[in-house]
Amino acid sequence: MSGETEFLLAAQEAALAAGRILEEWGEKFTVSEKGPADLVTEADVAAQNAIFALLQQRFPEHGFLGEEGLKEPSGAGDFRWIIDPLDGTSNYVHRFPYYCVSIALEQAGELITGVIYDPTRKEMFAAEKGRGATVNGKPLKTSRFSRLKDSMVIASFPPGVKVDSVPIRRFLHILGKAQTVHRSGSAALNLAYVAAGRLDGYWSTSLKAWDMAAGALIVAEAGGKVTKMSGAPLDLAVQDMLATNGTAMHAELSRLLGEVE
Ligand code: IPD
Ligand code: CA
Ligand code: CA
Repeated sequence: MSGETEFLLAAQEAALAAGRILEEWGEKFTVSEKGPADLVTEADVAAQNAIFALLQQRFPEHGFLGEEGLKEPSGAGDFRWIIDPLDGTSNYVHRFPYYCVSIALEQAGELITGVIYDPTRKEMFAAEKGRGATVNGKPLKTSRFSRLKDSMVIASFPPGVKVDSVPIRRFLHILGKAQTVHRSGSAALNLAYVAAGRLDGYWSTSLKAWDMAAGALIVAEAGGKVTKMSGAPLDLAVQDMLATNGTAMHAELSRLLGEVE
């Protein structure tokens, strides 16, 4: 992507700063539970503080929504940053190297900028509305597998998911039909991987706006499709997401997921 906007440049700068903080805290953090199996560390908070400080200094009129208690209404404009300073905290705590920083910007309710940064692999996934998606500056394109039986798909569960629950029944239903089904612990990185063609589809009914926002734009700009599970338009305020490579597999997965209630 050439000629990045000041928004994308600032988002990337903030994500890199947050990534450095996550790596620094990697030796010394302590863990607290927000709810059963829902973890937070000092690194989550320190990373969010760094992102907020940088973006707010650049764009004092903008609003902010961040997972770690950040709710700053916008001033005169209609811009809002949506931030998950560490997506995949459970992986981070266990030193499983699959976690990331996710930062998005919406204008009048429409996503216009998204970045997802993986500090382990030093991969910066980025997109701007109508201008395509990139990883470390190289164009991203979703995969072309159009049948579920040829596809590698992935799901997310809510923290502390119950064995006898709809998310687990859906997972098992698809397990028998896709080539491979994964669960990874980072919603945002799953979306980045769908955009990069490393995964073919992803679904969840437990995500918040900060888990979905940047990834939704990056997948769409890489040629994929992002909707609710039913195929209806995505709504960041509703915990219901299906993201795929944009082939006929989207409808197939949507239909099969809808069979489980
Ligand atoms: C979590 C991860 C996980 C998903 C959870 C999210 P966090 O975010 O994205 O993959 O299953 O629903 O809460 O807590 O690591 O930022
Ligand atoms: Ca998250
Ligand atoms: Ca988080």
